Amino acid sequence: MKPPPVLSDVTIEELAKNPYPTFDRIRSMASAVWVDSARIHLVTRFDDIMTVERNHHLFASTNPGSLMNKVMGHSLMRKDDEPHKLERAAVEPSFRPGVVKQHWAPRFRSIANDLINQFEADGETDLFSSFAAPMASLSLIDLLGFEDVAWEDIAWWSQALMDGVGNYQADPEISNRARRASAAIDQAIDHVLARHVETENPSILSSMAHAGHKHSREQIRANIKVIVGGGLNEPRDAILTTVLGLLQNPEQLAQAQANEKLFARAFEESVRWISPIGMYPRRVTQDTVLGDTRLKAEDQLGICVGAANRDTGHFEQPDSFDLNRTASRHLGFGAGPHFCAGTWVARQMVGEIAVPILFNRLTNLRLQAGNSPILRGWVFRGPIALPVRWDR
Ligand code: HEM
Repeated sequence: MKPPPVLSDVTIEELAKNPYPTFDRIRSMASAVWVDSARIHLVTRFDDIMTVERNHHLFASTNPGSLMNKVMGHSLMRKDDEPHKLERAAVEPSFRPGVVKQHWAPRFRSIANDLINQFEADGETDLFSSFAAPMASLSLIDLLGFEDVAWEDIAWWSQALMDGVGNYQADPEISNRARRASAAIDQAIDHVLARHVETENPSILSSMAHAGHKHSREQIRANIKVIVGGGLNEPRDAILTTVLGLLQNPEQLAQAQANEKLFARAFEESVRWISPIGMYPRRVTQDTVLGDTRLKAEDQLGICVGAANRDTGHFEQPDSFDLNRTASRHLGFGAGPHFCAGTWVARQMVGEIAVPILFNRLTNLRLQAGNSPILRGWVFRGPIALPVRWDR
């Protein structure tokens, strides 16, 4: 058993441009590798991540020093055991598959169609700004139970919070923006909370207000902020990567167009192929061993599900997008007690609605020649633009 090896020749910019060669390198080195530039031990092997997620007493989400707690308040994502369970149960009614299908799906469908109406006649667009970002934002406004909030505002709040959570260099400008976003979200909650307390409905705010375990205003605020921060860029990025995967693999697109059920498989494959959340943190609670590596209490781990989802021990030709894969169990939604609460929402919004409607309505949808899409990020990853054309 050895201590974690150190990787000192990888920059954050390299990781943000294309993390996969570094992920491969780390996976071949050890179960946990200290990466100097990221200032964290990265865990990249599928089986090691499963071990971490099965042992949350050794690998905790609770993290007293976490920047997320400072920026958003102490949310369910940084709790374990009973405190986590109670707050998780409070949001779950809005996310149940039946509620998603009956209540949210018609709303998502109408948002998707309204957005396409606005650019259909143009014959070309950047799907990031005209479709994926407003689709994810408008859906989230409804899911939360917010009113009188513009999609551009919630998108800005979300980005400002996420920048704040990653602000390890303590840049005052970033901290200030995150504080402003946080205050704006508090106001948006105060604007509607009384109505949700009065009348029960499927929104997340209503679920929290009517939870068996009474929530303080601080708990409601922190958990709403976590969902604003974490429930927007992932579906946005998954819409774009699913479209990208299909457009780059025309024979698979033809298959999906012949059998619409395959769009859901394409979505699932896109979350494996380019995981929108590439890394999330855990804290080691006592001296222990993970795979071939010795870890010490208080070591911070970066759980790289984006890397595990390309582990050749689990996936054949993992760098390829392939909706016909038989081994489909991936870690794109995490695992264990913190497994993504919004999985059914994302599956419905992206795989069953946004992507099939786009391909159905925009004939011969294709990437703009000579304008290749750029992907960025390793903690969060997705296309930063997706310029496309179709036949008018
Ligand atoms: C493709 C879309 C999505 C992906 C890939 C994704 C991915 C993830 C991952 C990997 C985690 C685990 C993080 C950790 O363990 O620290 C997570 C947690 C979570 N996600 Fe998602 N997510 C998506 C969409 C959504 C949506 C649309 C919502 C809500 C509207 C949402 C709400 C949550 C919440 C509340 C948690 C925390 C759960 C807990 O701590 O118990 N997610 N998500």
